[in-house]
Amino acid sequence: MEAMGIDIGGSGIKGASVDITTGELTSERHRIETPEESTPDAVVHVVKQVIDFHQWHGPVGVTVPGVVIDGTVYSAANIDKGWIGYDARTALQDELGEHVAVLNDADAAGIAEVRYGAARGRSGVCLILTFGTGIGSAIINDGVLVPNSELGHLEFHGMDAEQYAAGRLVKRDTGDIGWWIERVNELLLHIDRILNPKTIVFGGGISKRFDDIAPHLTARAEIVQAELLNNAGIVGAAMAAGEGSIT
Ligand code: BGC
Repeated sequence: MEAMGIDIGGSGIKGASVDITTGELTSERHRIETPEESTPDAVVHVVKQVIDFHQWHGPVGVTVPGVVIDGTVYSAANIDKGWIGYDARTALQDELGEHVAVLNDADAAGIAEVRYGAARGRSGVCLILTFGTGIGSAIINDGVLVPNSELGHLEFHGMDAEQYAAGRLVKRDTGDIGWWIERVNELLLHIDRILNPKTIVFGGGISKRFDDIAPHLTARAEIVQAELLNNAGIVGAAMAAGEGSIT
């Protein structure tokens, strides 16, 4: 079965169709810049453009970088504050005329990594962390998602953890990241204390440098590199829409 997955990020809105029985993309990814003023109306308009580009008819899953409960968004750390209290599911269904599922971006990455990636077959508590513009988190226990965890907003050194250790603070390709890894270690130690995950999947754009980072990580949990990288959000969104697990 196929579904369309759309990932709303701080810099781009990306979409592709996905075969949710294999996790493979069945079309090219189409990306449009996130509007500078990322208001709900402006973003919904871009989502429609992505759907039209693909001439898609069928279920659509959409990720949002915020808390999502029953299709309504309840937080907006890195997007326009107009998203808070916005019924994204109804608005998108009205605009697209299709069945739409809306979920948190890190949760989407989490369910995709569990089904097709680094968290596949792992028992116990597995934590997916995405280090990007913010820090996203997904808590999975024995393959089942506990939605809307927000570990990037743990208070840490008097600020949000994501202000202290987000991936955006360092370059993805080159440059010294030793100081940043120290910060990540502090955060992982803190998370170990309160959540005690068995496995941590290390994701987000900076995870491309996992081979440089991994030898310096000191958490007790086993830490593995995310596998789906850029496509995790798209694949998880498509799963949520196609399977009706998240509406
Ligand atoms: C948001 C999360 C999101 C993460 C990654 C945080 O600022 O609160 O909901 O998953 O950024 O985009």
